[in-house]
Amino acid sequence: MAGYIRALRWRGGFQAFKRSCHAQKTRLLWLSQDQNCFQCRALSSTPACRNRYEEVFRRSIEQPDDFWAEAAEKLVWHKKWDQVLDNSNPPFTRWFVGGELNTCYNAVDRHVKSGRGDQAAIIHDSPVTASVAHITYKQLQEKVSLLAGVLRKHGVQKGDRVLIYMPMIPEAVIAMLACARLGAIHSLVFGGFASKELATRVNHAEPKVVISANCGVEPTRVVPYKPMLDGAIDLSEFKPSSCIIFNRPHFDPAPLKAGRDFCWEEEMAGSSLVDCVPVSATDPIYLLYTSGTTGMPKAVVRPSGGYAVVLHWTMSNVYGMNPGDVWWAASDLGWVVGHSYIAYAPLLHGNTSVLFEGKPVGTPDPGTFFRVIRDHNVKGMFTAPTALRAIRAEDPEGKFAKKYLPTDSFKVLFVAGEHCDHETMDWTKNLLQTPVLDNWWQTETGWPITSTCYGLDMDLNPPSGVTGKPVPGWNVKVFNAAGKEAEVEELGEIYVKLPLPPSFSTLWKADERFKETYFTQKPGYYATMDSGVRDEHGYICVMSRSDDVINVAGHRMSAGALEEAILECGDVVEAAVVGVPDKLKGMVPLGLCVIKHDCITSHEEMVKNVIEAVRKSVGPVAAFKKALIVPKLPKTRSGKVARNTLAAMAAGKPFQIPVAIEDVTAYDYLEASFQRAGYQPAEATNRDKFYPRKH
Ligand code: COA
Ligand code: AMP
Repeated sequence: MAGYIRALRWRGGFQAFKRSCHAQKTRLLWLSQDQNCFQCRALSSTPACRNRYEEVFRRSIEQPDDFWAEAAEKLVWHKKWDQVLDNSNPPFTRWFVGGELNTCYNAVDRHVKSGRGDQAAIIHDSPVTASVAHITYKQLQEKVSLLAGVLRKHGVQKGDRVLIYMPMIPEAVIAMLACARLGAIHSLVFGGFASKELATRVNHAEPKVVISANCGVEPTRVVPYKPMLDGAIDLSEFKPSSCIIFNRPHFDPAPLKAGRDFCWEEEMAGSSLVDCVPVSATDPIYLLYTSGTTGMPKAVVRPSGGYAVVLHWTMSNVYGMNPGDVWWAASDLGWVVGHSYIAYAPLLHGNTSVLFEGKPVGTPDPGTFFRVIRDHNVKGMFTAPTALRAIRAEDPEGKFAKKYLPTDSFKVLFVAGEHCDHETMDWTKNLLQTPVLDNWWQTETGWPITSTCYGLDMDLNPPSGVTGKPVPGWNVKVFNAAGKEAEVEELGEIYVKLPLPPSFSTLWKADERFKETYFTQKPGYYATMDSGVRDEHGYICVMSRSDDVINVAGHRMSAGALEEAILECGDVVEAAVVGVPDKLKGMVPLGLCVIKHDCITSHEEMVKNVIEAVRKSVGPVAAFKKALIVPKLPKTRSGKVARNTLAAMAAGKPFQIPVAIEDVTAYDYLEASFQRAGYQPAEATNRDKFYPRKH
């Protein structure tokens, strides 16, 4: 019923954004002359053009073998595959079985060989250290080969894990590629995670070697990485045999532990060049940890061959880049966007990739993004809506941006990571006067599931609010609460029909969990855990997660992991973390904590302790700054906290008390706690069932 009510409400919303789409098309006619090209593309998207996408999509679903084999021919294979698609043991689909290649060869050496050696492979633009550096493909090849030599000296071989914990510097990409060169599996951990999160990954991935740096640089502080790494290794049962530490110039060098830690520069000086090691297409290239609904480590395993093929294909077909173009994904290497679209995809495709070490605002001002676009002739860019909201909040009239706009080079902006609200989308389009295209994907998928495919001549002015159409390869279906395919504009859960296109093999050391988490809800389908709708033209709109994952500034946080961190704080006996709406970050976590009856610490002090505990355990990136001490939490008879009802309540959205809740009075207490904290909590729509009103 709740789903049905939401669907009805959504239908109204859908009509509204169709009207807004019409308004946008009209507005496009008034774009400046510089944008003639875009106008043509947006407005003359003829049926013939649109058929190109339709045709490519149809082929990718009907003949996936031929489709991906053709894409794979664009790369250099050490040994050609025997079978393109092996779906004999679903969901463990294998692509390019029997094939051997090396991703580093395809991302670096191949381009040097074909004459791109002097082209910049990476531009490191770092407003936080006031520096810009260009690294050509030739220079990258040398550095990567030398670092591979260092790793080999420290015993790293094909299949060994190497953990990379580094800030946004070129050495992080060099480390990734050096692993790929040897066929070692890297696990890169985002710098904003603290020791305990890092320790969990060390323990789970069992890396032979860790590569790290002395520090990261945030706008207001230098973040020393080495103490965090030392703390993690102390906490972890598994101990890596060596750590290679890069000391960033102009910052204090990290203290090294004799026998375990080695200085990057010294090791490189004594190293020799190492060649690429061919690996099987189905061998993992990396592990990427992500948040599930529990705090248990969960690492996506990415297969070397299929991943290289799809990333290479997307750079031109989805993102519309030609080799040689400058591309900028303004994310962090620690996230999936960073892995795929800062490091591997642009390099596989022969682009120049901008590696930005700064923030959209405050480094030094909200004009930074536009300065980078202009300075480096960026053609295509990728960012999160949060970043645009931050810029808009500080520079609503775009005064800083306009110092650098318009540029001749810039053609398209892609946004992803979270829902992009209409206001932010429209504001950005008006400012840039180029298409701004939403695309939807997940750490698991490694590349977009839905998008407006710029390279396939799709309409560059899609209806507002949609995340595009299914990208070729992704057979997306929406199912309603009855388990039937949802009607047009009816809200449902989004699934992908198997076989999945290349790039998600399994979860590291957890094949059963892989099956259980993603493939049991609906046999024959991958459960995305996102809900949304499809419109009459096949556009998908992704609306919200249907599980307990919280999306903070485009980063996925596990409610379970945050709760575990809170519970480590003495005196807290129960905790629930829910996402509450936030103007800047889309959502932020809110902790609801029940403390011991005999706790003598004041509530104010307890809240401080809880916040500090999460920061120490998970890291500052969780943006955990709000907690309430509450008398009790609503739990089902099996002990599960009904988090979704708490999230709805805090957000002032209608919700229903589940019948399985043991003590419904918990909602009354919560209502009072929320009100005291300044929230305007919603009341349960079925409240009367539990508390009959007196007439
Ligand atoms: N190392 C150490 N600390 C880090 C870090 C890193 N690599 N990255 C972030 N942090 C810290 C920040 O310093 C901040 O600490 P604080 O609580 O002491 O201020 C905290 O983690 C939260 O960081 P962040 O989410 O970056 O928030 P912010 O308030 O510093 O900046 C925005 C706000 C909007 C500018 C920022 O969130 C942003 O750029 N968002 C875009 C996100 C994005 O690109 N996502 C990509 C997903 S595809
Ligand atoms: P992550 O794995 O951290 O990249 O987070 C993936 C989740 O972010 C998805 O399951 C969605 O819930 C959300 N997400 C990503 N892109 C979009 C988008 N374009 N629109 C709405 N939600 C998105």
